[in-house]
Amino acid sequence: MHKVLVATDKPFAASAAQQIRAIVEEAGYECAFLEKYTSKQQLLEAVADAEALIIRSDIVDAEVIAAAPKLKIVVRAGAGYDNIDLKACTEKGVVAMNTPGQNSNAVAELAFGMMIYQIRKQFNGASGTELMGKTLGIHAYGNVGRHVARIAKGFQMEVYAFDPFVDAAAMQAEGVTPVGSVDELYGKCQFVSLHIPANDKTKKSIGFELLSKMPKGAMLVNTARKEVIDEEGLKKIFEERKDFTYVSDIAPDCAADLAPFAGRFFFTPKKMGAQTEEANNNAGMAAARQIIGFFEHNDVRFKVN
Ligand code: 3PG
Repeated sequence: MHKVLVATDKPFAASAAQQIRAIVEEAGYECAFLEKYTSKQQLLEAVADAEALIIRSDIVDAEVIAAAPKLKIVVRAGAGYDNIDLKACTEKGVVAMNTPGQNSNAVAELAFGMMIYQIRKQFNGASGTELMGKTLGIHAYGNVGRHVARIAKGFQMEVYAFDPFVDAAAMQAEGVTPVGSVDELYGKCQFVSLHIPANDKTKKSIGFELLSKMPKGAMLVNTARKEVIDEEGLKKIFEERKDFTYVSDIAPDCAADLAPFAGRFFFTPKKMGAQTEEANNNAGMAAARQIIGFFEHNDVRFKVN
């Protein structure tokens, strides 16, 4: 009997956990849960007899892979797989997958929640501003970026996007104006919403020079990864541009240094973008089904290594 371990430091909603268990057990597999673990040791022990692993932002590095001799597949229930050591997986013959698109709407909705909270002065009683008629730049037009565009149009924002991997016509068909470079996107847009993955090319790629191109009243919205920001540049833009604001789904490492700029930033205390019941259900069930598809039919459609 295949054993599936669901190892989530930040647990799924109860409904998602129940549905994962139901899908796994229906297939005749065993389903175990390790939730809210407090040490890596607990994860290392729990993976010892697992053949499949479902995770979220949980770190699956070479040590975790080495502690799981029976492991055949790890599925990141979500989009970004920068928390998985893909090389270690490949070396041990472990297939790594994600569940693209399953939690994207939740992330997009949070981007707007944070934007409104910030432009309404964090609800402190002072007059704020509105999104209607403002320019929004979507940096990377993938699953989340497309949901952001759809919602932005409801707010009657002027929507631009930069993504060298997406056909301009596809953006135009969705009412989005494609731009030819990141510089152009940041130069045009008062609000920029980040949706790039964190990898060797993108880490620390958003810095002072780019941010300083943004028009007056600039707001950077980060529901992607904190690692894509060059934090020295971030501190500098806060110092040099009094109009610059930043909202991010989890705080940058330099958060303490930003204390003098209180009121101009908001950071979620925990990564909350995908933390809705709907997103948990979608991503969790997709992960469970992908594991069964892999064992039963060798289906590797969502393989990322
Ligand atoms: C993702 O990459 O899918 C999101 O960042 C969600 O991460 P989480 O599952 O840890 O909340």
